[in-house]
Amino acid sequence: FHSHLEERVRPLIDLIDSLRQLGIEEDLALPSIAVIGDQSSGKSSVLEALSGVALPRGSGIVTRCPLELKLRKIKGGVQWRATISYRDEYIEFDDPSLVGTYVEEAQNELAGDGVGICDDLITLEIMSPDVCDLTLIDLPGIARVPVKGQPDDIGDQIKSLIRSFIEKEQTINLVVVPCNVDIATTEALRMAQEVDPEGKRTLAILTKPDLVDKGTEKNILDIVNNQVIPLSKGYIIVKCRGQRQIDDKVSLAEATRVEKEFFKRHEYFRCLLNEEKATVQCLATKLTQDLVDHIKKSLPLLSEQIRKQLWDCRKEMGQCEPGPPLDPQKRKDFLITTMMKFNDKINRLSTGDAGNNDN
Ligand code: GDP
Ligand code: NA
Ligand code: MG
Repeated sequence: FHSHLEERVRPLIDLIDSLRQLGIEEDLALPSIAVIGDQSSGKSSVLEALSGVALPRGSGIVTRCPLELKLRKIKGGVQWRATISYRDEYIEFDDPSLVGTYVEEAQNELAGDGVGICDDLITLEIMSPDVCDLTLIDLPGIARVPVKGQPDDIGDQIKSLIRSFIEKEQTINLVVVPCNVDIATTEALRMAQEVDPEGKRTLAILTKPDLVDKGTEKNILDIVNNQVIPLSKGYIIVKCRGQRQIDDKVSLAEATRVEKEFFKRHEYFRCLLNEEKATVQCLATKLTQDLVDHIKKSLPLLSEQIRKQLWDCRKEMGQCEPGPPLDPQKRKDFLITTMMKFNDKINRLSTGDAGNNDN
Protein backbone atom coordinates (compact mmCIF):
# COMPACT_ATOMS: atom_id res chain seq x y z
CA PHE A 1 0.00 0.00 0.00
CA HIS A 2 0.95 3.59 -0.57
CA SER A 3 0.75 5.14 2.86
CA HIS A 4 -1.87 7.80 2.03
CA LEU A 5 -4.15 5.14 0.60
CA GLU A 6 -3.52 2.94 3.59
CA GLU A 7 -4.77 5.79 5.79
CA ARG A 8 -7.92 6.22 3.75
CA VAL A 9 -8.77 2.56 3.39
CA ARG A 10 -7.58 1.19 6.73
CA PRO A 11 -10.54 2.32 8.87
CA LEU A 12 -12.96 0.70 6.44
CA ILE A 13 -10.96 -2.52 6.35
CA ASP A 14 -11.01 -2.56 10.16
CA LEU A 15 -14.76 -2.10 9.96
CA ILE A 16 -15.00 -5.08 7.62
CA ASP A 17 -12.90 -7.11 10.07
CA SER A 18 -15.19 -6.28 12.98
CA LEU A 19 -18.29 -6.98 10.92
CA ARG A 20 -16.81 -10.29 9.89
CA GLN A 21 -16.19 -11.21 13.52
CA LEU A 22 -19.89 -10.60 14.14
CA GLY A 23 -20.69 -13.09 11.38
CA ILE A 24 -21.71 -10.48 8.82
CA GLU A 25 -21.15 -12.84 5.91
CA GLU A 26 -24.41 -14.60 6.70
CA ASP A 27 -26.30 -11.40 5.93
CA LEU A 28 -24.07 -9.53 3.55
CA ALA A 29 -22.22 -11.45 0.87
CA LEU A 30 -18.78 -9.87 0.63
CA PRO A 31 -17.49 -9.79 -2.94
CA SER A 32 -14.89 -12.25 -4.07
CA ILE A 33 -12.50 -11.95 -6.97
CA ALA A 34 -12.33 -14.64 -9.64
CA VAL A 35 -9.34 -14.99 -11.93
CA ILE A 36 -10.04 -16.25 -15.44
CA GLY A 37 -8.00 -16.70 -18.60
CA ASP A 38 -6.32 -19.17 -20.91
CA GLN A 39 -4.10 -21.89 -19.57
CA SER A 40 -0.69 -20.50 -18.54
CA SER A 41 -1.79 -16.88 -19.01
CA GLY A 42 -0.49 -16.16 -15.50
CA LYS A 43 -3.61 -16.45 -13.31
CA SER A 44 -1.99 -18.30 -10.44
CA SER A 45 1.02 -16.00 -10.65
CA VAL A 46 -1.20 -12.94 -10.20
CA LEU A 47 -2.95 -14.55 -7.25
CA GLU A 48 0.34 -15.55 -5.77
CA ALA A 49 1.70 -12.02 -6.04
CA LEU A 50 -1.50 -10.56 -4.54
CA SER A 51 -1.62 -13.00 -1.66
CA GLY A 52 2.03 -13.66 -0.93
CA VAL A 53 1.08 -17.33 -0.97
CA ALA A 54 3.09 -19.69 -3.15
CA LEU A 55 0.57 -21.59 -5.25
CA PRO A 56 1.29 -24.49 -7.62
CA ARG A 57 2.11 -23.08 -11.05
CA GLY A 58 3.71 -23.95 -14.34
CA SER A 59 2.95 -24.98 -17.87
CA GLY A 60 -0.05 -27.11 -18.81
CA ILE A 61 -3.07 -27.62 -16.58
CA VAL A 62 -1.93 -27.00 -13.03
CA THR A 63 -5.08 -25.57 -11.45
CA ARG A 64 -7.65 -28.35 -11.74
CA CYS A 65 -10.23 -27.42 -9.09
CA PRO A 66 -11.63 -24.06 -8.09
CA LEU A 67 -9.51 -22.78 -5.22
CA GLU A 68 -10.97 -20.19 -2.91
CA LEU A 69 -8.23 -18.21 -1.23
CA LYS A 70 -9.55 -16.31 1.78
CA LEU A 71 -7.01 -13.77 2.98
CA ARG A 72 -7.64 -12.41 6.44
CA LYS A 73 -5.50 -9.61 7.71
CA ILE A 74 -4.85 -9.98 11.41
CA LYS A 75 -3.14 -7.54 13.75
CA GLY A 76 0.65 -7.62 13.80
CA GLY A 77 2.75 -9.74 16.14
CA VAL A 78 0.77 -12.84 15.28
CA GLN A 79 2.16 -15.77 13.37
CA TRP A 80 1.06 -16.75 9.86
CA ARG A 81 -1.46 -19.58 9.96
CA ALA A 82 -3.74 -21.33 7.51
CA THR A 83 -6.46 -23.91 7.09
CA ILE A 84 -7.34 -25.90 3.99
CA SER A 85 -10.71 -27.58 3.63
CA TYR A 86 -12.39 -29.66 0.95
CA ARG A 87 -15.11 -32.32 1.10
CA ASP A 88 -14.81 -33.57 4.68
CA GLU A 89 -11.11 -32.75 5.06
CA TYR A 90 -9.98 -29.93 7.33
CA ILE A 91 -6.28 -29.31 7.94
CA GLU A 92 -4.62 -26.55 9.98
CA PHE A 93 -0.98 -25.62 9.41
CA ASP A 94 1.46 -22.79 10.09
CA ASP A 95 4.22 -23.34 7.52
CA PRO A 96 3.67 -21.19 4.38
CA SER A 97 5.97 -23.41 2.34
CA LEU A 98 3.46 -26.28 2.65
CA VAL A 99 0.65 -24.49 0.78
CA GLY A 100 1.60 -25.94 -2.62
CA THR A 101 1.82 -29.49 -1.31
CA TYR A 102 -1.55 -29.31 0.43
CA VAL A 103 -3.26 -27.78 -2.59
CA GLU A 104 -1.83 -30.47 -4.88
CA GLU A 105 -2.90 -33.19 -2.46
CA ALA A 106 -6.41 -31.73 -2.37
CA GLN A 107 -6.58 -31.56 -6.17
CA ASN A 108 -5.40 -35.14 -6.57
CA GLU A 109 -7.98 -36.22 -4.03
CA LEU A 110 -10.81 -34.39 -5.81
CA ALA A 111 -9.88 -34.57 -9.48
CA GLY A 112 -7.62 -37.63 -9.59
CA ASP A 113 -3.88 -37.78 -10.24
CA GLY A 114 -4.10 -37.05 -13.97
CA VAL A 115 -5.17 -34.07 -16.02
CA GLY A 116 -8.89 -34.09 -15.18
CA ILE A 117 -10.77 -31.24 -13.56
CA CYS A 118 -13.39 -31.17 -10.81
CA ASP A 119 -16.06 -28.65 -9.77
CA ASP A 120 -15.52 -29.23 -6.04
CA LEU A 121 -14.19 -26.23 -4.18
CA ILE A 122 -10.97 -26.18 -2.17
CA THR A 123 -10.95 -23.45 0.48
CA LEU A 124 -7.64 -22.12 1.71
CA GLU A 125 -7.91 -19.57 4.50
CA ILE A 126 -4.82 -17.58 5.37
CA MET A 127 -4.49 -15.38 8.44
CA SER A 128 -1.50 -13.08 8.44
CA PRO A 129 -0.57 -9.48 9.23
CA ASP A 130 0.93 -9.19 5.72
CA VAL A 131 -2.05 -9.90 3.46
CA CYS A 132 -4.86 -7.68 2.19
CA ASP A 133 -8.37 -8.55 3.24
CA LEU A 134 -9.59 -10.22 0.06
CA THR A 135 -11.20 -13.44 -1.11
CA LEU A 136 -9.74 -14.67 -4.39
CA ILE A 137 -10.75 -17.60 -6.57
CA ASP A 138 -8.26 -19.41 -8.78
CA LEU A 139 -9.91 -21.35 -11.60
CA PRO A 140 -8.69 -23.85 -14.17
CA GLY A 141 -7.54 -22.17 -17.38
CA ILE A 142 -9.45 -22.39 -20.63
CA ALA A 143 -7.95 -25.13 -22.78
CA ARG A 144 -8.82 -25.40 -26.45
CA VAL A 145 -7.41 -28.79 -27.32
CA PRO A 146 -7.74 -31.73 -24.94
CA VAL A 147 -4.46 -33.38 -24.00
CA LYS A 148 -4.05 -37.15 -23.67
CA GLY A 149 -6.21 -38.41 -20.83
CA GLN A 150 -8.69 -35.51 -20.98
CA PRO A 151 -12.27 -35.96 -22.20
CA ASP A 152 -13.16 -34.42 -25.58
CA ASP A 153 -15.43 -31.85 -23.96
CA ILE A 154 -12.84 -30.63 -21.42
CA GLY A 155 -13.02 -27.13 -22.91
CA ASP A 156 -16.78 -26.93 -22.35
CA GLN A 157 -16.46 -28.44 -18.86
CA ILE A 158 -13.96 -25.76 -17.86
CA LYS A 159 -16.03 -22.98 -19.38
CA SER A 160 -19.19 -23.98 -17.55
CA LEU A 161 -17.22 -24.23 -14.30
CA ILE A 162 -15.84 -20.73 -14.91
CA ARG A 163 -19.26 -19.39 -15.82
CA SER A 164 -20.76 -20.67 -12.55
CA PHE A 165 -18.36 -18.35 -10.69
CA ILE A 166 -18.24 -15.28 -12.90
CA GLU A 167 -22.00 -14.96 -13.35
CA LYS A 168 -22.48 -14.19 -9.64
CA GLU A 169 -23.23 -10.50 -9.14
CA GLN A 170 -20.96 -10.47 -6.08
CA THR A 171 -17.90 -11.51 -8.05
CA ILE A 172 -15.32 -9.16 -9.48
CA ASN A 173 -13.89 -10.81 -12.59
CA LEU A 174 -10.19 -10.46 -13.29
CA VAL A 175 -9.50 -11.38 -16.89
CA VAL A 176 -5.86 -12.34 -17.30
CA VAL A 177 -4.31 -11.88 -20.74
CA PRO A 178 -0.60 -12.20 -21.56
CA CYS A 179 0.95 -9.29 -23.49
CA ASN A 180 2.19 -11.66 -26.18
CA VAL A 181 -1.31 -12.88 -27.09
CA ASP A 182 -3.93 -11.13 -29.22
CA ILE A 183 -6.44 -9.77 -26.70
CA ALA A 184 -9.20 -9.55 -29.32
CA THR A 185 -9.35 -13.34 -29.52
CA THR A 186 -9.37 -13.91 -25.76
CA GLU A 187 -12.21 -16.26 -24.84
CA ALA A 188 -12.11 -15.26 -21.16
CA LEU A 189 -12.74 -11.62 -21.99
CA ARG A 190 -15.66 -12.61 -24.20
CA MET A 191 -17.12 -14.72 -21.35
CA ALA A 192 -16.72 -11.88 -18.86
CA GLN A 193 -18.47 -9.46 -21.22
CA GLU A 194 -21.30 -11.97 -21.66
CA VAL A 195 -22.08 -12.14 -17.93
CA ASP A 196 -21.30 -8.46 -17.31
CA PRO A 197 -22.18 -6.50 -20.46
CA GLU A 198 -21.70 -3.10 -18.80
CA GLY A 199 -18.33 -4.12 -17.44
CA LYS A 200 -19.17 -2.96 -13.93
CA ARG A 201 -17.25 -5.83 -12.36
CA THR A 202 -14.70 -6.78 -15.01
CA LEU A 203 -11.07 -5.73 -14.71
CA ALA A 204 -8.45 -6.87 -17.22
CA ILE A 205 -4.90 -7.76 -16.20
CA LEU A 206 -2.12 -7.83 -18.77
CA THR A 207 0.69 -10.19 -17.77
CA LYS A 208 4.19 -11.05 -19.03
CA PRO A 209 5.15 -7.51 -20.16
CA ASP A 210 8.75 -8.75 -20.28
CA LEU A 211 7.79 -11.15 -23.07
CA VAL A 212 6.06 -8.58 -25.29
CA ASP A 213 7.03 -9.00 -28.94
CA LYS A 214 9.43 -6.29 -30.14
CA GLY A 215 7.55 -3.62 -32.05
CA THR A 216 4.18 -4.25 -30.38
CA GLU A 217 4.84 -2.14 -27.26
CA LYS A 218 2.73 0.75 -28.59
CA ASN A 219 -0.23 -1.59 -29.13
CA ILE A 220 0.02 -2.82 -25.56
CA LEU A 221 0.15 0.77 -24.32
CA ASP A 222 -3.03 1.56 -26.29
CA ILE A 223 -4.75 -1.47 -24.76
CA VAL A 224 -3.78 -0.48 -21.20
CA ASN A 225 -4.97 3.06 -21.93
CA ASN A 226 -8.39 1.62 -22.74
CA GLN A 227 -8.26 2.61 -26.41
CA VAL A 228 -8.61 -0.80 -28.06
CA ILE A 229 -11.27 -2.77 -26.18
CA PRO A 230 -12.66 -0.23 -23.69
CA LEU A 231 -13.69 -1.60 -20.28
CA SER A 232 -15.31 0.58 -17.62
CA LYS A 233 -12.88 -0.66 -14.98
CA GLY A 234 -9.97 -0.61 -17.39
CA TYR A 235 -6.66 -2.44 -17.40
CA ILE A 236 -3.66 -3.01 -15.16
CA ILE A 237 -0.36 -4.40 -16.36
CA VAL A 238 1.72 -6.55 -14.00
CA LYS A 239 4.94 -8.49 -14.15
CA CYS A 240 5.16 -11.66 -12.10
CA ARG A 241 7.93 -14.16 -11.62
CA GLY A 242 8.78 -16.15 -14.73
CA GLN A 243 9.70 -19.81 -14.64
CA ARG A 244 13.42 -19.01 -14.41
CA GLN A 245 12.95 -16.72 -11.41
CA ILE A 246 10.92 -19.41 -9.70
CA ASP A 247 13.66 -21.95 -10.39
CA ASP A 248 16.18 -19.43 -9.05
CA LYS A 249 14.02 -19.11 -5.90
CA VAL A 250 13.53 -15.34 -6.29
CA SER A 251 11.37 -14.37 -3.28
CA LEU A 252 8.03 -12.59 -3.69
CA ALA A 253 9.40 -9.51 -1.93
CA GLU A 254 12.33 -9.45 -4.33
CA ALA A 255 9.92 -9.94 -7.25
CA THR A 256 7.95 -6.86 -6.15
CA ARG A 257 11.13 -4.81 -6.25
CA VAL A 258 12.14 -6.24 -9.62
CA GLU A 259 8.66 -5.50 -11.01
CA LYS A 260 8.84 -1.85 -10.02
CA GLU A 261 12.34 -1.53 -11.42
CA PHE A 262 11.21 -3.15 -14.67
CA PHE A 263 8.45 -0.59 -15.23
CA LYS A 264 10.63 2.34 -14.14
CA ARG A 265 13.21 1.46 -16.77
CA HIS A 266 10.80 0.50 -19.55
CA GLU A 267 10.93 2.85 -22.50
CA TYR A 268 7.21 2.58 -23.26
CA PHE A 269 5.57 1.42 -20.03
CA ARG A 270 7.23 3.69 -17.47
CA CYS A 271 4.47 6.34 -17.77
CA LEU A 272 1.96 3.76 -16.51
CA LEU A 273 3.50 3.80 -13.02
CA ASN A 274 2.32 7.35 -12.29
CA GLU A 275 -1.07 6.68 -13.88
CA GLU A 276 -1.57 3.79 -11.42
CA LYS A 277 -2.02 1.29 -14.23
CA ALA A 278 0.99 -0.89 -13.50
CA THR A 279 2.28 -3.23 -10.76
CA VAL A 280 0.66 -5.81 -8.52
CA GLN A 281 0.67 -3.36 -5.63
CA CYS A 282 -1.51 -1.01 -7.64
CA LEU A 283 -3.84 -3.90 -8.47
CA ALA A 284 -4.13 -4.81 -4.78
CA THR A 285 -5.00 -1.24 -3.89
CA LYS A 286 -7.63 -1.07 -6.60
CA LEU A 287 -9.24 -4.33 -5.52
CA THR A 288 -9.30 -3.31 -1.87
CA GLN A 289 -10.94 -0.04 -2.86
CA ASP A 290 -13.58 -2.01 -4.80
CA LEU A 291 -14.27 -4.09 -1.72
CA VAL A 292 -14.59 -1.00 0.42
CA ASP A 293 -16.95 0.66 -2.10
CA HIS A 294 -19.12 -2.42 -2.04
CA ILE A 295 -19.30 -2.38 1.76
CA LYS A 296 -20.14 1.33 1.76
CA LYS A 297 -22.96 0.74 -0.70
CA SER A 298 -24.34 -2.18 1.32
CA LEU A 299 -24.21 -0.55 4.76
CA PRO A 300 -27.51 1.42 4.54
CA LEU A 301 -29.45 -1.70 3.57
CA LEU A 302 -27.72 -3.70 6.28
CA SER A 303 -28.49 -1.18 9.01
CA GLU A 304 -32.12 -1.10 7.81
CA GLN A 305 -32.28 -4.91 8.18
CA ILE A 306 -30.76 -4.73 11.66
CA ARG A 307 -33.27 -2.05 12.74
CA LYS A 308 -36.14 -4.23 11.57
CA GLN A 309 -34.80 -7.30 13.38
CA LEU A 310 -34.41 -5.27 16.57
CA TRP A 311 -37.98 -3.99 16.27
CA ASP A 312 -39.37 -7.52 15.74
CA CYS A 313 -37.34 -8.75 18.67
CA ARG A 314 -38.59 -6.00 21.01
CA LYS A 315 -42.18 -6.69 19.95
CA GLU A 316 -41.78 -10.37 20.73
CA MET A 317 -40.22 -9.59 24.11
CA GLY A 318 -43.13 -7.28 24.94
CA GLN A 319 -45.42 -10.27 24.70
CA CYS A 320 -43.44 -12.27 27.24
CA GLU A 321 -44.23 -12.02 30.95
CA PRO A 322 -41.45 -10.45 32.99
CA GLY A 323 -39.33 -12.90 34.98
CA PRO A 324 -38.70 -12.81 38.76
CA PRO A 325 -37.47 -9.46 40.15
CA LEU A 326 -33.90 -9.08 41.45
CA ASP A 327 -34.76 -7.85 44.96
CA PRO A 328 -34.85 -10.92 47.35
CA GLN A 329 -37.97 -9.74 49.24
CA LYS A 330 -39.85 -9.05 45.98
CA ARG A 331 -38.75 -12.43 44.67
CA LYS A 332 -40.58 -14.09 47.57
CA ASP A 333 -43.74 -12.10 46.75
CA PHE A 334 -43.36 -13.02 43.11
CA LEU A 335 -43.11 -16.73 43.99
CA ILE A 336 -46.19 -16.56 46.23
CA THR A 337 -48.27 -14.73 43.60
CA THR A 338 -47.22 -17.22 40.93
CA MET A 339 -48.15 -20.17 43.16
CA MET A 340 -51.51 -18.61 43.97
CA LYS A 341 -52.25 -18.06 40.29
CA PHE A 342 -51.30 -21.66 39.62
CA ASN A 343 -53.51 -22.82 42.50
CA ASP A 344 -56.47 -20.86 41.09
CA LYS A 345 -56.04 -22.50 37.74
CA ILE A 346 -55.90 -26.00 39.23
CA ASN A 347 -59.07 -25.26 41.23
CA ARG A 348 -60.90 -24.01 38.17
CA LEU A 349 -59.83 -27.05 36.19
CA SER A 350 -60.90 -29.51 38.88
CA THR A 351 -64.36 -27.90 39.31
CA GLY A 352 -64.86 -28.22 35.56
CA ASP A 353 -64.93 -24.46 35.21
CA ALA A 354 -62.06 -24.46 32.69
CA GLY A 355 -63.30 -21.12 31.42
CA ASN A 356 -62.05 -20.27 27.98
CA ASN A 357 -59.43 -22.99 27.63
CA ASP A 358 -56.64 -20.66 28.68
CA ASN A 359 -54.76 -23.37 30.55
P1 GDP B 1 -1.98 -20.08 -15.13
O1 GDP B 1 -2.02 -21.39 -15.83
O2 GDP B 1 -2.81 -19.05 -15.84
O3 GDP B 1 -2.33 -20.16 -13.68
O4 GDP B 1 -0.48 -19.55 -15.27
P2 GDP B 1 0.72 -19.61 -14.23
O5 GDP B 1 0.57 -18.56 -13.20
O6 GDP B 1 0.89 -21.01 -13.77
O7 GDP B 1 1.92 -19.13 -15.15
C1 GDP B 1 2.31 -19.84 -16.31
C2 GDP B 1 3.80 -19.59 -16.55
O8 GDP B 1 4.00 -18.21 -16.90
C3 GDP B 1 4.64 -19.85 -15.33
O9 GDP B 1 5.80 -20.51 -15.71
C4 GDP B 1 5.00 -18.46 -14.82
O10 GDP B 1 6.23 -18.41 -14.19
C5 GDP B 1 5.03 -17.65 -16.10
N1 GDP B 1 4.73 -16.23 -15.86
C6 GDP B 1 3.69 -15.69 -15.19
N2 GDP B 1 3.73 -14.34 -15.18
C7 GDP B 1 4.86 -14.01 -15.85
C8 GDP B 1 5.47 -12.75 -16.20
O11 GDP B 1 5.00 -11.67 -15.87
N3 GDP B 1 6.63 -12.84 -16.92
C9 GDP B 1 7.17 -14.02 -17.32
N4 GDP B 1 8.29 -13.99 -18.01
N5 GDP B 1 6.63 -15.20 -17.01
C10 GDP B 1 5.50 -15.22 -16.29
NA1 NA C 1 -0.65 -23.27 -15.90
MG1 MG D 1 -3.10 -21.78 -12.55
